[in-house]
Amino acid sequence: MSTHGLTTHHREDLLARLADSRRSTDELFTIVRPEAIYDRPIPERHRILFYIGHLEAFDWNLLGRGAFGLPAFNESFDKLFAFGIDPVGGGLPDDLPTAWPTVEATRAYGDQVRRALDERLVTERDMDEARLADYVNVAIEHRLMHAETLAYMLHQLGHDRKLPQPQAAAPAGRPVPGRLIEIPAGTATLGRKRGSGFGWDNEFEEHAVRVPAFAVDELPVTNGQFLKFMKAGGYDNRGLWAADDWEWRSKHDVRHPAFWAQRGQEWMYVGMFDEVALPPDWPVYVSLAEARAYTNWAGRSLLTEAQFHRAAFGTPEGSERVYPWGEVVPGARHGNFDFDRWDPSPVGAYGAGDSAFGVAELVGNGWEWTQSRFEPFKGFEAFPFYPGYSANFFDGLHYVMKGGSARTASCMLRGSFRNWFQAHYPYVYAKFRGVWNG
Ligand code: AVJ
Repeated sequence: MSTHGLTTHHREDLLARLADSRRSTDELFTIVRPEAIYDRPIPERHRILFYIGHLEAFDWNLLGRGAFGLPAFNESFDKLFAFGIDPVGGGLPDDLPTAWPTVEATRAYGDQVRRALDERLVTERDMDEARLADYVNVAIEHRLMHAETLAYMLHQLGHDRKLPQPQAAAPAGRPVPGRLIEIPAGTATLGRKRGSGFGWDNEFEEHAVRVPAFAVDELPVTNGQFLKFMKAGGYDNRGLWAADDWEWRSKHDVRHPAFWAQRGQEWMYVGMFDEVALPPDWPVYVSLAEARAYTNWAGRSLLTEAQFHRAAFGTPEGSERVYPWGEVVPGARHGNFDFDRWDPSPVGAYGAGDSAFGVAELVGNGWEWTQSRFEPFKGFEAFPFYPGYSANFFDGLHYVMKGGSARTASCMLRGSFRNWFQAHYPYVYAKFRGVWNG
């Protein structure tokens, strides 16, 4: 134990988690065939190569330059790979593959970053313990978030451009539709207390929200249910769509979920590594715009962020749980998360993960869209070393998602974690369920 700096144990734990997170992203890039490294599977995002460099440049800019003040050894790469993109309003990048460095040069940069950081992380003695832990947690979770968003991106890459990975068989689900579950009025605790362990800037502060009674579907909306909406003309019925959602739908001629493909008369599900006849009992992954149109058609609404907390963590006794299933750390029986599968499982397959009210898979098998705009909680303070992480997205166009998907690492399944995307981004592993406000 040292008196300043981290205790040896804590430091070792952080370094082991950083090494684990690097393994996750390294493995992910091995599924890309070499000839596809400069592909751009999602038009709004960078080419794949960018992300190989970005994960390392981010750590270097944050820890190497920011926390430790080390001298740059490749300033142009530090800049080139610094930021991802999330264009609002359809402006698309048009850079050519030849504008980017070689894979070899990008990997060599990454190796040098890792060596320099690892050496310093072991020897660092001057930095305040909690401050260093925040920095390293930011590096770890940033990387793990990219392990997930890269999976969305590689999902859109053609199957012939990938090397298939094994995937466990999906467990059996529950009969659809499930029950409509009544949640009595009560209090939901959102956010987290400062000093209670790592959280991103947007998770603070802790506060209580009074939630009126509502009823919520036990199970998320499935592909089979969504197909009925399509067959009823849902994509052509302007009255079901909010004005800007309709504009997006029309401009891009969206006629079905981004994960579906029509082959003759048949609908197929485009999985990570193969195409299968549309599994009717898997949750449907859609944009918030499509989820809103569906719930309008079904005479339902979407969960608010506070309703999500109440349904997931509230109990009939009035106390609140750490996870929907209780206090036990997340395990394979609680849900489809922590890189268990590449694709969804049938809805309701993980009974052990039900909330105290009996609501299924609020955590895992796809993020849960909420109708709540992504906004700061009272007392919000941006991390001084990463001011734009959340604040750049408090723009009224991004919405909160809660829970987690098959590709969400366990550490981010904590109740206070808030994810967000634009309402018109269709590539996220995000599901939804109906709410009845009576
Ligand atoms: C929190 C997942 C919305 O991917 O846009 C990664 C996370 N921020 N690098 C995103 C993020 C900067 C962010 N999300």
